[in-house]
Amino acid sequence: MKEIILNHWTAIENHAKLPLSRLFQNNSDRVEQLSFEQSGIYFDFSKTHLDIELIEKFQELANAKDLKGQIDALTEGVAINVSEGRAAEHTAERGIGADTSVENAKLLRKRMHGLVQALDSNALGDIEYIIHLGIGGSALGPELLLEALKFGDEKYETAIISNIDGCALEPVLERFDAQKTLLVIASKSFTTAETFLNARSVIDWMVEQGVSDPYGKIVALTAMPDKAVEWGIDESRILPFSDTIGGRYSLWSSIGFSVALTLGFDVFEDLLAGAATMDDHFKNAAIENNIPIIAAFCDQYYSQIRHCQTRAVFAYDQRLGLLPDYLQQLEMESNGKSVLVDGQSLDRHSSPIIWGGVGTDAQHAVFQLLHQGTHLVPVEFLAVIEPGHSLAGEHHHGLLLNCFAQGAALMAGKSSDDVNRNYPGDRPSTTLLLDELNGQTLGALIAFYEHRTFANAVLLGINPFDQFGVELGKEMANALSSNDSNQMDPSTEILKNRAFPA
Ligand code: F6P
Repeated sequence: MKEIILNHWTAIENHAKLPLSRLFQNNSDRVEQLSFEQSGIYFDFSKTHLDIELIEKFQELANAKDLKGQIDALTEGVAINVSEGRAAEHTAERGIGADTSVENAKLLRKRMHGLVQALDSNALGDIEYIIHLGIGGSALGPELLLEALKFGDEKYETAIISNIDGCALEPVLERFDAQKTLLVIASKSFTTAETFLNARSVIDWMVEQGVSDPYGKIVALTAMPDKAVEWGIDESRILPFSDTIGGRYSLWSSIGFSVALTLGFDVFEDLLAGAATMDDHFKNAAIENNIPIIAAFCDQYYSQIRHCQTRAVFAYDQRLGLLPDYLQQLEMESNGKSVLVDGQSLDRHSSPIIWGGVGTDAQHAVFQLLHQGTHLVPVEFLAVIEPGHSLAGEHHHGLLLNCFAQGAALMAGKSSDDVNRNYPGDRPSTTLLLDELNGQTLGALIAFYEHRTFANAVLLGINPFDQFGVELGKEMANALSSNDSNQMDPSTEILKNRAFPA
């Protein structure tokens, strides 16, 4: 089998490496063949080096890796997270999964809806402020959704705090009225150090401010409800979710509670419905038309064949400014691994480093390297046709035209006798153009990225659903804080002693 896979990779490696200009010259149907529409999003892969023959070669690799079978396993609740012996059931939250898991997700969502309604009708008194504490997947998803979909006239002011650095929490405590604050603790494991230090500080602040029953103003979102009970939170305010939902895939579960409360439950349901349309596409579309799979082919091509170490994502829409951060966790925590599912070493590049920012800001900061640097960086542009503001049309027009111009310039380049003014061109980009930004399209967009990440993992042969790589740093931090520093190196000892002299 190993040899068969290797042969497929060799065929991909040997595929003619034509420049983008030639690919366009050779095929007048290129844009039509390499662009797709799904769930209110237009995906244009024509400015990448994929062509139909290369897709066919990748398709053979995908078949050899049983990608379609793995998608079925993912969406049917098979225990594909083998290192942790469980399924990965985020799609069940959206209605696609094992029957019992879909049913369970519905029941838990009903419970969550009930609590949203109770809060809206002042069951916990007059609440105006929400402090949502969580880190990684318990923060990045909710924060992205709030930033992307808020209107500015929401009933609650919501702050998502993740960092242990008090500089994050203190300004919120200074601004919020403790008497009118709800504390939401979001933690799948209900053990994460940063989240619980912040939680204790918020409770201390509530007590100092004269809140009579601070524990009565806490909602817990977790896969470990027993731990939340032990922590002193009443069961009626604990919203559980299944431990088969990974942290970075958890925004669809009760981890989305603060989003549902702030933006409205209907918006939350739109997100789920939008994601379900992408799930359906991923599960049922043939490989050659399957958008997350085509995107993964592209990722693998640049990673393995062109040895690109990074991929850059630029949202030409301020509302999606947190998308690169969100994708960093999704893709790098999922696919930044060195072992295969069977325990053997991965002998290719794992996830590229994901980075990015917003356009047009990034054009005036980092695009120099993209146009003339020595690294080849595949770029992903995102833009939304419908503007998210009511200022003069020039703003949005200018924004979108800049986005399209950058993709064109990266591809076309421009030659000059002056070496400093020479642009090599032939630099690839993908463009995702959303009709509008709303719960449905954002849900579909995030599901697209989840499935692309999964397809990449299957092509590589790795398990995208564990994250053991983060554990050592946690252990070392504990050892340092408990003064158990026998195992520490001299450099770390000196740093600690400088910061905390005896
Ligand atoms: O340390 C990594 C991690 O486990 C992420 O995978 C997760 O999203 C984050 O920490 C937060 O974990 P929890 O939700 O259990 O607090």
